[in-house]
Amino acid sequence: MKILAIDTSCDESCVAVLDTEEWKLLSDIVHSHVASMEKFGGVVPEIASREHLKALPLAAHEGLERANLTPGELDWISVTHRPGLIGALLVGVSYAKALAYALSKPFSCFNHIEAHLFSPMMVLLEKGTPPVFPWLALVVSGGHTELFLVHDLLEYEWLGGTVDDAAGEAFDKIGKLVGLPYPAGPAMDQWVKERATPDHRTRFSFPRSNPMEHHFSFSGLKTAVSNQIKALGKPSEDDRLALAASAEEAIVDALVEQIRRAKKKFPVATVVVTGGVACNSRLREKLPEAYFPRHSHCTDNAAMVALLAGLYAKKNRLSPAPWETTAFASHDSP
Ligand code: KG4
Ligand code: ZN
Repeated sequence: MKILAIDTSCDESCVAVLDTEEWKLLSDIVHSHVASMEKFGGVVPEIASREHLKALPLAAHEGLERANLTPGELDWISVTHRPGLIGALLVGVSYAKALAYALSKPFSCFNHIEAHLFSPMMVLLEKGTPPVFPWLALVVSGGHTELFLVHDLLEYEWLGGTVDDAAGEAFDKIGKLVGLPYPAGPAMDQWVKERATPDHRTRFSFPRSNPMEHHFSFSGLKTAVSNQIKALGKPSEDDRLALAASAEEAIVDALVEQIRRAKKKFPVATVVVTGGVACNSRLREKLPEAYFPRHSHCTDNAAMVALLAGLYAKKNRLSPAPWETTAFASHDSP
């Protein structure tokens, strides 16, 4: 089966084409909107929707061209319909529906977090061996920080999540506070990795707040960094580096601690970490036992959505969505 997948949940227009015959990824396109968001220092939902309107048809065209397929050769269209920025998701879902209608092909909708969750299965496409179940899985991105127990392929239970900000949001907001350009998460990682010493990482003692079993909280950390900046008056560049390094340490420690706690409670074969923050080098360093997909498959992409559709097909659970299907900003709306 040849599946074309679309993800427009945030500020990247993503299209991928997967051939499930040999689990071969025929194309994997990511059109980033970073350039349009830079001057605002963050994602502006209205602009993201408008950028998707421009970029998605081009990404779809490019995806088919690289896959060397005509639209008629596709068997199935899959699209992310939740959770995410509602306007952005609506562009993706409407495009998927229009494509499916024009081609008389079925389409299905998928949950973005579930796609991140099973992105470690991407090794199937790379002819590696997938991590052994059961997994303890942390999905850690700009909008989500969720811990799951994955019993088997597509069989999982939610253990906990953030009660306020997501870890990626904490990276982005704290990075901005210390003067880094958008997107501040990867910039903070790189700056700290290249320049910080052990003294920078421990200079400020920020809270590692894990409120309840299997849950996370990062808003107190953001406030603590902001208060520390005020207390310093005019922080020097060295202070700013220490603020960034100490805050990174606090975020990473909070994530690692919740994984350690859950590992004690549940007998798991593998720990997997996915989502944009899974690119963080300090997190990777502090969790040497965990499996991390490669960077381009940790951040948003449509390959993981195509793969999820393929995995549903493999388990005979892929069914066409009705035409009235729409998009939802949150996980749990109907
Ligand atoms: O999964 P993703 O691409 O989009 C969402 O679904 O949110 O994650 C994006 C998030 C952003 O908050 C970004 O700053 C963060 O992942 N991120 C990082 C790194 N790379 C991306 N955070 C820390 N270190 C990184 N290297
Ligand atoms: Zn994501």
